[in-house]
Amino acid sequence: MTNPNVLVGINTGDDCAVYQITEELAIIQTVDYFTPIVDDPYDYGAIAVANALSDVYAMGAKPLFALNVVGFHTRGMPLEILIRMMKGGGDKAREAGVDIVGGHTIDDKEPKYGLSVTGVIKPGEIVYNSTAQVGDVLFLTKPLGVGILTTGIKRGTVSEAAIARGVEVMAALNRSASEAMVQVGVNACTDITGYGLLGHLGEMTRGSGVGARIHARAVPVMQAARDLIDADLNAVPGGSKNNLDFVRQFVNFDPSITEAERLILADAQTSGGLLISCPAGKADQMEQALKDAGTIIAARIGVMEAEDDTGRIDVVP
Ligand code: CO
Ligand code: CO
Repeated sequence: MTNPNVLVGINTGDDCAVYQITEELAIIQTVDYFTPIVDDPYDYGAIAVANALSDVYAMGAKPLFALNVVGFHTRGMPLEILIRMMKGGGDKAREAGVDIVGGHTIDDKEPKYGLSVTGVIKPGEIVYNSTAQVGDVLFLTKPLGVGILTTGIKRGTVSEAAIARGVEVMAALNRSASEAMVQVGVNACTDITGYGLLGHLGEMTRGSGVGARIHARAVPVMQAARDLIDADLNAVPGGSKNNLDFVRQFVNFDPSITEAERLILADAQTSGGLLISCPAGKADQMEQALKDAGTIIAARIGVMEAEDDTGRIDVVP
């Protein structure tokens, strides 16, 4: 990166790029899209948009407008599906106060949908994922288990009620959680997506030079996902198993933590919650602010316990 106006580029694992325009103003940019994870095109559209906006919220910024990124097989699939997808996405963007002002569609046998999002932030107010401090309390704003649940949906082993709950969790905007953390003032944040809780926490601990302690049984998990994995460890998608293999290099699991619990902590999420690293002295205020904001959960799941260059994570019961 040669341009000094690039405040956040590809060198860190942060969620978005940030480019400074003036002393007081930077633009923030991200792009995210994926293949369908639920059957209903409207829900898929809403989830894809909530997910794309999430990276902007994770950095404490305000999304302004977006462009659609679409793959669709126009000759092979009813146009109604595309219309429902766009409607779900458009309604979710409207809920976020974000205008979708254009976009691009290519012909693609497997549908794809997401957004390129542009937002603004004051350069001094960027919430990085690499600036956590020793003693911080870790908050999580959505339950885990989405990867297991969506795999169950593909295999036809999930009830309608559980699907509805999964859609509700994935389609929930991280906006109010983001606004709450900006108001309180926190040290670091990221959103939980494909690398799972432990993978994204590992980026945060390594980047920050701190170690973390996670209380596995304080981490909320969707009941349907827990039921699926308790019945069969193979309910977990391949990506989540790979995540667990990867995080074993920097995670110490207490021997009492079961394989199912480990897999859940590594489960790849779609449109997961924010993982917020908050100064201990503000933790009560943060918890109240998240509750007032109406986030799905406002769970204290652990602490940043010591300086540690390797970013080790201890998982205890
Ligand atoms: Co992210
Ligand atoms: Co992303």
